Amino acid sequence: MQVVAEISPIREQVAKWRREGKKVAFVPTMGHLHDGHMALVRKARELADHVIVSIFVNPLQFEKVDDLNNYPRTLDEDTSLLNSEGVELVFTPTPDIMYPEGLEQHTSVDVPGLSSILEGQSRPGHFRGVSTVVTKLFNIVQPDVACFGEKDFQQLALIRKMTDDLALPIDIIGLPTVREMDGLAMSSRNSRLTVDERQRAPVLAKTLRWISSQLRGGRTDFNDLVLDAHDQLRAAGLEPDEIFIRDAASLHAPNDDTNQLVILAAAFLGQVRLIDNLVVDMTPASTQETSSKED
Ligand code: PAF
Repeated sequence: MQVVAEISPIREQVAKWRREGKKVAFVPTMGHLHDGHMALVRKARELADHVIVSIFVNPLQFEKVDDLNNYPRTLDEDTSLLNSEGVELVFTPTPDIMYPEGLEQHTSVDVPGLSSILEGQSRPGHFRGVSTVVTKLFNIVQPDVACFGEKDFQQLALIRKMTDDLALPIDIIGLPTVREMDGLAMSSRNSRLTVDERQRAPVLAKTLRWISSQLRGGRTDFNDLVLDAHDQLRAAGLEPDEIFIRDAASLHAPNDDTNQLVILAAAFLGQVRLIDNLVVDMTPASTQETSSKED
């Protein structure tokens, strides 16, 4: 397995694979890899002849310097995990390679609408940072297919729209959230939870399931439902940041044509901001959650 920080060896390798008529899959990550990432890597291996994984903690998508500095960096463990999964090429650029003239001077990509709503409201600039880095990574790697987790539901919607809008010839594959046995969605940030916080953390997924059961039971007072959910989180020692109930396709407020709802939630546990989501099928024939698999 090759681990390279520079752009040109990636381009050369991909060009060689292309000349051989091979298909390339890409899994962009910020490292500190867990089973959720490994599920993306395995899917990528199924879909293509060669897999490239990037590990880059992208400063452009962090609004708080502390959050960027505290983001776990475990390159040695990550590369040995990827090696054991049969990944052939890992791209580990530095901020200087990605943003040679600094963050302020870099051209940015913005996805109107999707970047400023929901999570984009509480994290201004975050999604511009994501769409900019993903576009740049796509241009460097030029994959046929790229895999992302549904845990970052809004991010996935944004990347799909960006890829469509810019006519990028890349298939975007979304994969269900991978969960711990107790329901907690896997995340690189979970390792920053204290033992006590880790015990409380599954309450976020449990609260999503409770909201889902209320919705399937016919409850339509979304504002009160969200406030009740806030109370449940607080009672368990979590500080709710935001909970939204939206149309899963548009991420806008649900209307009479809405078939699937998505519940998007973020809550603080100490210093760590956890996010999770659950899709709820509201068609009369079905009363199942369809995404973010249950534990
Ligand atoms: O989901 C992530 O890990 C990041 O947002 C991504 C897509 C790798 C861009 O930095």
